[in-house]
Amino acid sequence: MADLDALKTKYLDGIAAASDEAALEELRLAALGKKGEISLMMRELGKMTPEERTSTGAALNRLKDDIDTALRAAKTAMADAALNARLATEWLDVTLPGRPLRQGSIHPVSQVMEEVTAIFADMGFAVAEGPQVESDWFNFDALNIPPEHPARQEHDTFFMNRAEGDDRPPHVLRTHTSPVQIRSMTEQGAPIRVIAPGRVYRMDMDQTHTPMFHQIEGLAIGKDISMANLKWVLEEFFTAFFGIKVKTRFRASHFPFTEPSAEVDIQCSWIDGQLRIGEGDGWMEVLGSGMVHPKVLKAAGVDPEEYQGFAFGMGIDRLAMLKYGIPDLRAFFESDLRWLRHYGFAALDMPTVHGGLNK
Ligand code: DAH
Repeated sequence: MADLDALKTKYLDGIAAASDEAALEELRLAALGKKGEISLMMRELGKMTPEERTSTGAALNRLKDDIDTALRAAKTAMADAALNARLATEWLDVTLPGRPLRQGSIHPVSQVMEEVTAIFADMGFAVAEGPQVESDWFNFDALNIPPEHPARQEHDTFFMNRAEGDDRPPHVLRTHTSPVQIRSMTEQGAPIRVIAPGRVYRMDMDQTHTPMFHQIEGLAIGKDISMANLKWVLEEFFTAFFGIKVKTRFRASHFPFTEPSAEVDIQCSWIDGQLRIGEGDGWMEVLGSGMVHPKVLKAAGVDPEEYQGFAFGMGIDRLAMLKYGIPDLRAFFESDLRWLRHYGFAALDMPTVHGGLNK
């Protein structure tokens, strides 16, 4: 029988010197595996006399336990060392100040659209929508603007490209939100009260014009709706929007889709180059309006003998410039982050009539 003390020294030294788990496993197999040195010695016990078996068996069991304990201890030590190494390299200073998250902001046009919608919703107007690529029938003909009408040229229309042989009706980028009047009346009939905010397009570009801009259309049709209702609704609107009592002035005008037609000015003053809405004896034009033309009602399937009402259309970008003191329209659509941060609104700053619309 080999010298058990020598064996013990050999394995314990080996375990102490092992550099990784694979080396430990190799030592375990060499000693305690099926064909390991100590397992083979255990098998020899059967051939011994009872006395020899008792003493050698006990000694072998102790040796086995010693090696097993040393292997486990070495394994645990290796795992601890690996964890400590990770903790040393992956530490995190939780006392550092957080990095600021850049927040987006609401564009003044979106903000004003929400404000305008909230005010008209409070007066019982629903929101209607229509397509930005519109057939020329909805954009012009149904609104009493026949092909030879001069207004059709004034609109500087963008026409959609048509392949040769395409016999669908010509389409345009809508030049105003007025076609939504026709679509809403065709779908819902009368009586009706809607506003339609949205994008419109015209070939135009200078400090106060961009090829794409925003309008809001208003339409109220019933049995006895008159210009007086129009005036009240608009004054109520401007007063809520600007947060100060605003007078309006109606000037006779002409639009093919209304009869009579009026351009509407709001009261303002210019003092030392400063514009103030709702005071003074100056006037500023802000919208077109009128009583919806019987031909327009007919085109939308509403009987002009039974129903009448008013319509109006105004520029949303212009309203935003006036309310928030923004000088150049072109900057609205340049996506300059410095501009957006300066004129933008906080995301949760939702306008409501009762919450106060003015800041
Ligand atoms: N559609 C007109 C434009 O873009 C604005 C307008 C004028 C709309 C009078 C109306 C209206 O509904 O009655 O210039």
